[in-house]
This record gives sequence, structure tokens and C-alpha cells, in this order.
Amino acid sequence: MRLDKLLSNMGIGSRKDVKMLLKKKQVTVNGTVVKDSSMKVDSDADDIKVKGEIITYQQYIYLMMNKAPGHVSATTDTREKTVIDLLREDVLHFKPFPVGRLDKDTEGLLLLTNDGDLAHQLVSPKKNVGKTYYATIAGFVTDEDVTAFQEGVVLEDGYKAKPGELRILQSGDISEIEVTITEGKFHQVKRMFEAVGKKVTYLKRLSMGDLKLDDTLKLGEYRELTDNELAYCMSLKDTL
Ligand code: URA
Repeated sequence: MRLDKLLSNMGIGSRKDVKMLLKKKQVTVNGTVVKDSSMKVDSDADDIKVKGEIITYQQYIYLMMNKAPGHVSATTDTREKTVIDLLREDVLHFKPFPVGRLDKDTEGLLLLTNDGDLAHQLVSPKKNVGKTYYATIAGFVTDEDVTAFQEGVVLEDGYKAKPGELRILQSGDISEIEVTITEGKFHQVKRMFEAVGKKVTYLKRLSMGDLKLDDTLKLGEYRELTDNELAYCMSLKDTL
């Protein structure tokens, strides 16, 4: 990879900023001052330093966020605040994007990464990765609803949802449930409840496969995945 690309990918600055650093003799490769921004470097083997600080190349970033309501799951939006607006400057150069979509008012587990292969593994309905949600529902959720979800409810546009596993935590005027589904169509959980004549009043994603929301993360907070969480993600990629 070109030296200027590597350094700008690592957030050192724009290619122009990097040129300036080189001009000021602030970049060394294997101990030698380098002036040529197009120099080819091997990120694994070469020792690259900027102002004496070693630069460790990292291609991918994997962030777990507890999504705050009021933010759309997109990288840009002309009117709304996005989940990217919740990220600090130091991770933006990786150009992370949200994996799958949570509605503006939905909270909970959102993975942000720049690893397109992993994103595909997690969201593709063919891969059967279960997504579990906690929700409050206006109205009594019944055992008939559990059976309807098991069989696959028909949404208002005629689409028959794949089977969902519905668990009633508390049934009442306002019911509390958990539901696990393997697809992520637009407003899927809300539309599945509409199909049985009920309204979701609060929705939070708890998990995607083995990735569980870290409940120490406050709304809008995020952290990098732990080694165990990362190992799980890599195991999904191995099935590519
Ligand atoms: N289903 C929904 O209806 N909304 C979400 O945000 C996620 C799943």
C-alpha cells in the first residue's frame, strides 16, 4: 500500500497533510526519513513512525453501540441526526456504517463497522442470524399471537414473514415481550405486531446472534468489540 494512503487511512490527516509531514521529515520507515508519499510499504513488516510514534495499521473497526432514539441508522441524512453523529472523531476515518437498520425511535444493539463481508453475514436472512428484541405492546399479547408468529404472520403488503419466536414476559393492557426474528425488513417487528392487531410502543434490540448488548453502555454510547465478540464475528465470516 502507498505510504500516504496508509497514513491517511489511519487518520493521520489528508493526503495533503501527509505530504506536509513528509516534507518536514516527520515520517520514518524502518528508521529512515522518507520524503516520497507514493512509497510502497508493507503494513505488517515495516516499522512506520510519525513524529517518533509507531503507527499500527488497522483495516477494520467493529463498534457496539447502544443506539439512542432520535437518530437514523444511516451514514448521512439531510434532515435527521444519524448514528454516525454519535461517534467520536478518532473512529470516523475508518468510515464505519451501521449493520442493518434500526428505526429512528428504536434503541439498543447496533453494530457499526467498515467490514462489508461481516455486515452481509449478520443481515442476510439466508444466514439465519437471530435478532432478539424487547418490546412493549399496547394490548394483551396472547398464546395465539405466539402461534401466529411461529407460523409466520402475513404483513400488510402480503409478505409472509419467516417464523418468529415470541416470548410473553408480561401480558396486560401494556404487554412486555421478547421476540427473535431472522430477517430485517423495514419496520419488521412493528409490522408483525400490526398483523396481529397490536401496536409496538417501545422497541429495543438486545442481541444479534451471539452479540449481546452490553448493558453498561448508556444510550448513544459505544465501544469496540471485545476479543470474544470479535472471534464470534470472525467465525461468521469463515462461513462465507
Ligand atoms: N423492527 C422494527 O419494526 N423496527 C426496528 O427498528 C427493528 C426491527
